Amino acid sequence: MIDFNALVRPHILGLKPYNTARDDYSGKIGIFLDANENSLGSAVTDSYNRYPDPHQVELKAKVAAMQGVTPEQVFLGSGSDEVIDLLIRVFCEPGRDKIMVLSPTYGMYAVCAAANNVSVVEIPLTESFTINTQQTLENAADVKLLFLCSPNNPTGNCLPQSEIAEILKNFAGIVVLDEAYIDFAPGRSWLPRLSSYPNLVIMQTFSKAWGLANLRLGMACANPAIVNFLSWIKYPYNISGLTQELALKALKNEPAKEQMVALILAERKKLEKELAGLPIVQKVYPSDANFLLVKFNNSPSVFEFLIGQRIIVRDRSHAAHCDNCLRITVGTSEENKILIAKLKEFDSR
Ligand SMILES: Cc1ncc(COP(=O)(O)O)c(C=O)c1O
Repeated sequence: MIDFNALVRPHILGLKPYNTARDDYSGKIGIFLDANENSLGSAVTDSYNRYPDPHQVELKAKVAAMQGVTPEQVFLGSGSDEVIDLLIRVFCEPGRDKIMVLSPTYGMYAVCAAANNVSVVEIPLTESFTINTQQTLENAADVKLLFLCSPNNPTGNCLPQSEIAEILKNFAGIVVLDEAYIDFAPGRSWLPRLSSYPNLVIMQTFSKAWGLANLRLGMACANPAIVNFLSWIKYPYNISGLTQELALKALKNEPAKEQMVALILAERKKLEKELAGLPIVQKVYPSDANFLLVKFNNSPSVFEFLIGQRIIVRDRSHAAHCDNCLRITVGTSEENKILIAKLKEFDSR
C-alpha cells in the first residue's frame, strides 16, 4: 500500500477544487447564461464561444480505451510539460522536498522543480546510458518524485526493464516514467503493468508519434488517487475544445500514426547507417526514439556549419557523457538526404 498522506503536500489533501459552471449543469441543451461567455458567438466562427468540457469525458474515455486503462486512471495535460509541473506541485513542498533525475535527461523536470523552488538530486546514468540503480536508490531517501525517461531524451535508449522494476520495488516515493517516445519502441511500455504499481505515473504525449505537438496534449496514466490530486489543482479548462476535438479525430485514425511511426523507424535506420559511415562521426548511439544522438569529432563546428545551411539540430554537447554530441531528429526522407549531403560537404571542405 502507498501512504498518500505522507507523500502529498498536506494542504493539497484538504483542497477544495474549483467548481466550474459546467459542473452545476452537465446537459448540452439549454439557454446558457451561467459562465459569462459571449452568447452571440465568436469573432472568427460561432463554434468557440463556449468553454470546453473541463473533465474531457469523451476524450478520456477514448484515451483510456487506447491505453488499456480506465478513464479514472487518465489525466490529460496541456502537453506532458503541464503534467510534470502539476506532479511537482502536488508532491513537493517548496524549499523542503526533492525530485530526482538521471542525467542526461529531459530538461523540463529540473526547470519545473526550480520554478517551484524544489531541489533536484541529479544522478548520472552510466556511460552507456543505463541506470546506476544502487547509487540511485542510495540517494533517494528525501526524494518525493523520481523521474525516469524511457526512451530517454537526449540519449534515445530505453532504460533496462529490470532496473526500472528494481526502482519501482525499492523506491518509497512516486516513480514518474516519461514515455514520450514509446511509440517508437514497440512492446516496451509499462502501461500493461500500471495497476500493479500504485506509485507509478506513466506520461505519454500526442506531440511525437501522433504528430500533434501544436495541440499541446499530454497524458498521465496512474492510480486514480494520483489522477484526482492532479485534477484538483489543474486550471479548470486546461485542454481547449479545439484540442479535444482534433485529438478525438486523430484517435479514429490510429493507422495513420502507425504508418508514420513505421516510416520514421525505416528512415532512422537509414540515417543511422549513413551517419555512422561519415569520417566526422565518432559514434551514433542506438536509438529507440525518433531522433539520434550523434558524437562528432568536433560538434561545435558541425553545429555552426549546419545552422549556416539552415539545418537546425540540437546541441547536447554540455550534457553528462555527451561531449561533442548533437541530437538529430529523424526528418522526412528528403530532409535526411539533404542533411547527409551537407555533412559530406562539411567533411570535404
Ligand atoms: C522526454 C520528454 N518528455 C516530455 C516532453 C514534452 O512533451 P509535450 O509536448 O507533451 O509537453 C518532451 C518534449 O520534447 C520530451 O522529450
